[in-house]
Amino acid sequence: MKCKQIVIPEFGSAEVLAFQEIDIPQPNAGEVLVKIAYAGVNPIDVKTRAGLGWAAAENKDNLPWVPGYDISGVIAGLGEGAQAFEVGQEVVGFIGFPLRAGGYSQYVCVPETELTALPKTVALDAAAALPLAGQTAAQAINKAQVQEGERVLILAGAGGVGHIAVQLAVATKAEVYTTCSERNLDYLATLGAHAINYEFAPASERLSDVDVLIDLVGGDVALDALKCLKDNARVITTPTITAELVCEKAKLLGFEASGMLVSPDTKQMETLLYMVGVGLLKTEIQHVLPYLQVVEAHQQVETSRTRGKVLLDMQC
Ligand SMILES: NC(=O)c1ccc[n+]([C@@H]2O[C@H](COP(=O)([O-])OP(=O)(O)OC[C@H]3O[C@@H](n4cnc5c(N)ncnc54)[C@H](OP(=O)(O)O)[C@@H]3O)[C@@H](O)[C@H]2O)c1
Repeated sequence: MKCKQIVIPEFGSAEVLAFQEIDIPQPNAGEVLVKIAYAGVNPIDVKTRAGLGWAAAENKDNLPWVPGYDISGVIAGLGEGAQAFEVGQEVVGFIGFPLRAGGYSQYVCVPETELTALPKTVALDAAAALPLAGQTAAQAINKAQVQEGERVLILAGAGGVGHIAVQLAVATKAEVYTTCSERNLDYLATLGAHAINYEFAPASERLSDVDVLIDLVGGDVALDALKCLKDNARVITTPTITAELVCEKAKLLGFEASGMLVSPDTKQMETLLYMVGVGLLKTEIQHVLPYLQVVEAHQQVETSRTRGKVLLDMQC
């Protein structure tokens, strides 16, 4: 039996993305075969496809390469010794990070240790929005040690990482401020944040005495936001391309600052799924596109204006 997958045959614009047909793979010992329902699209997929960043550098001799770290789907086969799941069970995974990837596929074999069982209360699409972005949000909030009552500024609260980070920071009872364009002001207010329209004025002209900055934009926007911080504030910056610049400047100003690289954690995935299941956390999905429209999906993420997530429907 055959299945389809999406590959990056060479680095370039979204149009380079191509389809290939392969035999449905067989799981090795300790692996399971997953029939993928949804694959999440992340900015790192888009940057890597364009040949930018460390994942592209690492994979440049490894093309064609199948991108995709976020999957949800159903267990379709078990390799020798695999016993954590049953055939037919719904699962979600943050797979093959950072170098193997492979989620833009209809079927994939992965070590069973990379997967988390989906509770009945969480839909496959909501789950696929969570792995990379949700865990980045959770790890950034944890790394910053956000405390009750602190003033937290999250740049880009409406994005894939941002909308989860806002909700997690609100859940710690912090006073949460976030930047967005006009069309996302109401949306972010419904998540419990004070939303600041960056199109109207930079954050530094609107806010001061901030204890924690979670930077999801980087570059000049992040440098401006440093002016909002009070003495001894903490800074976490996620865009790896400008992390050094932002951290250097922040440290010169006397702040504690660090970049981060998200690390897959199935226990943390369980917690996020539980929160979604009981209604404590909402995932926002702007578009679910059939996998044949992967070019449009990449073009959308490339705008940097997506609200929440873009998913590929790998079933149709
Ligand atoms: N280091 C790591 O481990 C790691 C992990 C995950 C992500 N990242 C990086 O973190 C960044 C955010 O990721 P993401 O998945 O959340 O991206 P995303 O979903 O593409 O973010 C899109 C959001 O950014 C907002 N935005 C764009 N320009 C803005 C600005 N100048 N000020 C405020 N908001 C702005 C947009 O809101 P409006 O439409 O309202 O402008 C949109 O909702 C990316 O650079 C990504 O590569 C790093």
